[in-house]
Amino acid sequence: MANTSYSSANANTQVITVRTLQKMKQAGEKFVVLTVYDASFAAIIERAGVEVLFTGDSLGMVIQGHETTVPVTMDNMVYHTSLVSRARKKALVMSDLPFMSFSDPARALDNATRLMQEAGAHIVKLEGGGEMVQVVENLAKHGVPVCGHLGLQPQAVHKLGGYRVQGREAEAAETMLADAKAMQDAGADMLLLECVPQQLAKTITDALTIPTIGIGAGRDCDAQVLVLYDLLGISHGHRPKFAKDFLRDVTKTDPDGEVSIEAAVRAYVQAVKQQQFPDDEHSFK
Ligand code: KIV
Repeated sequence: MANTSYSSANANTQVITVRTLQKMKQAGEKFVVLTVYDASFAAIIERAGVEVLFTGDSLGMVIQGHETTVPVTMDNMVYHTSLVSRARKKALVMSDLPFMSFSDPARALDNATRLMQEAGAHIVKLEGGGEMVQVVENLAKHGVPVCGHLGLQPQAVHKLGGYRVQGREAEAAETMLADAKAMQDAGADMLLLECVPQQLAKTITDALTIPTIGIGAGRDCDAQVLVLYDLLGISHGHRPKFAKDFLRDVTKTDPDGEVSIEAAVRAYVQAVKQQQFPDDEHSFK
């Protein structure tokens, strides 16, 4: 019998595109995103079945040791994304536009051009709600695939006064839903939801035709993302509730089995595909 799973269909040679991911949403098949900042890890996590290699500006914290993502520059993003692209075979490469690099439509277009031309990104991600509509429209109009980012926006941490769940109050939830629809209407291809109550993330996911990628947003999103260093249990400082150490997990659950970075990433991929992750312990009510 033919295997109709999109991830299996792509397991051999077919490259993953934003269209592949949209078809996976339509088919109800979850896909997996993981942050990655260099070629060696990119090769391992792609082999483990991750569909989207995401060079996030979290590199400012986990690679560079800053307290926030605010100091990350365009040159940093171009450098790390290009290392990932060099190792990539068929996964989609997503890259973050860092703090202030998309403050107006023309600037965003110039910097997205750098991520795509110099670094090999296939899609750019940017934080922000309704105020970003013109920026997204301009990118989409020029053929740049875009992933929006709602909920907790780490680049705004100094304005927010900390890393907190977003959208708990009715008004904030309504605004987030409206912003999500506005992003889709402006031409966004995907939407990341960070630290959002599970029910609100489900409402947004159901309301959109584009896929949602959750981190601390419950199991109903179309995809999940984690920071690689959280998954490996090697992040320093505060560990968020949604972060799960899959390396420790594979060591504990199967002490005689394979204990490796690849095995830990495979466990994450399997848990997302089978909708076992995130569970209630790693989600917000
Ligand atoms: O930069 C990053 O790692 C992110 C997370 C939400 C995955 O944006």
